[in-house]
Amino acid sequence: MFVLLFSFVLLCWLVLRRGKLKGNLPPVYPGCKPIIGHAHRLVGDGKQLWNLIQDIQRDCLKNGGVTLFRLGPEKYYVVCDPDDYITVMGTCLEKNYFYRKILNAWVGDGLVTAPVPVWKKHQKLLYPAFGQSVVDSFNGVQNSQARRLVHSLGDLVNKGPFEHLDHIARSALETNLLTAFGLQKNMDTIMSYMKHFVEIRRIMTKRLQNCWMHNDFLYSWTDLKKQQEEALKKLRALSDEIIQRKRRVMKDKQSNEGKSVEQGKQFKGFMDLILESSASGALSDADIRAQVDTMVLAGFDTTSTTMAYACVLIGSYPAVQEKMYAELEDVFEGSDRDVERGDLSRLVYLDAVLKEVGRLYPAAPVVIRYLDKDVKLQNYTMPAGSNCVLLISGLNRHQVWGSDREEFRPERWLETASLPENSNAFTGFSIGRRACIGKPYAVTLMKITLAHLLRHYRIKAEHRHLVLQLEIFLKPAEGCQISLEPRHVRMV
Ligand code: HEM
Repeated sequence: MFVLLFSFVLLCWLVLRRGKLKGNLPPVYPGCKPIIGHAHRLVGDGKQLWNLIQDIQRDCLKNGGVTLFRLGPEKYYVVCDPDDYITVMGTCLEKNYFYRKILNAWVGDGLVTAPVPVWKKHQKLLYPAFGQSVVDSFNGVQNSQARRLVHSLGDLVNKGPFEHLDHIARSALETNLLTAFGLQKNMDTIMSYMKHFVEIRRIMTKRLQNCWMHNDFLYSWTDLKKQQEEALKKLRALSDEIIQRKRRVMKDKQSNEGKSVEQGKQFKGFMDLILESSASGALSDADIRAQVDTMVLAGFDTTSTTMAYACVLIGSYPAVQEKMYAELEDVFEGSDRDVERGDLSRLVYLDAVLKEVGRLYPAAPVVIRYLDKDVKLQNYTMPAGSNCVLLISGLNRHQVWGSDREEFRPERWLETASLPENSNAFTGFSIGRRACIGKPYAVTLMKITLAHLLRHYRIKAEHRHLVLQLEIFLKPAEGCQISLEPRHVRMV
């Protein structure tokens, strides 16, 4: 009798629980198969991956902002709703498997990938290296690098369309090495680093797309793993050099009884902070390497790709370009002088253009969190142990942006009344405690570079030729070209 009663109660509980869970699940993205879920949909190249993301995004927006995706037994809640996005970013700090296992093989426990206890400790140590005062101390280098870029593009003026991303990326990587790491490298080293960087991005994306390779044992037998080790060896040679050089400089500093051997540095930069922390035992050698690799990974690719998209969009919208030029004329009065700190806040329209570029073409369009606790969204509760995919690209095309949300219209950023609440949350740098630490650096560099470029050249481009791919970041696959015509600028 007791067994019967117990079985009845257990059955009722299971039925109720199943009903509750079922009622609580968002619509499942089409194409889910037994056992594998949607794993088969990931397979392909970076272009196919981006097409898939866009299709999931459409489905998610159609379904009210949340959709369910499955990889085997793993649940991925895909979120495109702005309010739910703010909830998740405010409560979930833990990164998921993709960061912890796949990216981690490259950048260890750097800030982007670290588990929360490590991240908390290191973020506190490194935060001061990204403040506006440190960024301002890079002003001279950022200006001279922008001038070098303008000069190097001189040979391509009036020569028709060319691929400009590599030019911008070389300049951004060189600037990143000079500013964050105080390291000057020749062009051959920069080019070789970029080649291996592109290779490792492709390898990690391919591993992500083939779920059977997520298993370390199976992956260790693949050619892809061998290629990964080769590329990492090359990339690490540079980070090792950065660290060794900085250690020597620190040693010289000490033996010079505190006299600075690095001229012009008034603020503690990233490497100074890291090495001081290592001397005090707060960071191990592995920690230092992870942070250096992370800052190179996160620092130059995102910034240069955003500038490349900005050039294509500016070149496709002559009215926007002329308005930017008029603002530059107003601030610089026809001269090509350096962009100073005070100029940056006066370049209001340039700022709006960059925000609009980040809205439509976010360099990091997908971020993922692992849920270590239940998280309540407006209509669903995501259970602990599942994952949440935040589609920044989807949030930025949500209907809160109005009926012209698909259009490139920088003016929207100047009409605050028609902007969605919290609009700055959606400029592509993420929000919350794990938002982009490099935002002030990135925005300053992009403004300075574009202010130099646009004073010297009129850009022409066609954004409708752009084909995109997702390789960790949102990268152009085809059609990312501009052509240049000269402007008349008074040299100082
Ligand atoms: C246009 C340029 C940039 C964009 C669009 C961008 C975007 C982002 C986004 C979306 C995140 C959140 C990632 C996540 O939650 O998984 C992030 C984090 C991060 N970014 Fe950026 N980023 C840019 C430039 C930079 C630069 C220049 C640096 C460093 C010099 C940098 C360093 C970082 C770091 C260290 C994190 C991890 C922060 C943490 O977890 O505490 N980023 N970035």
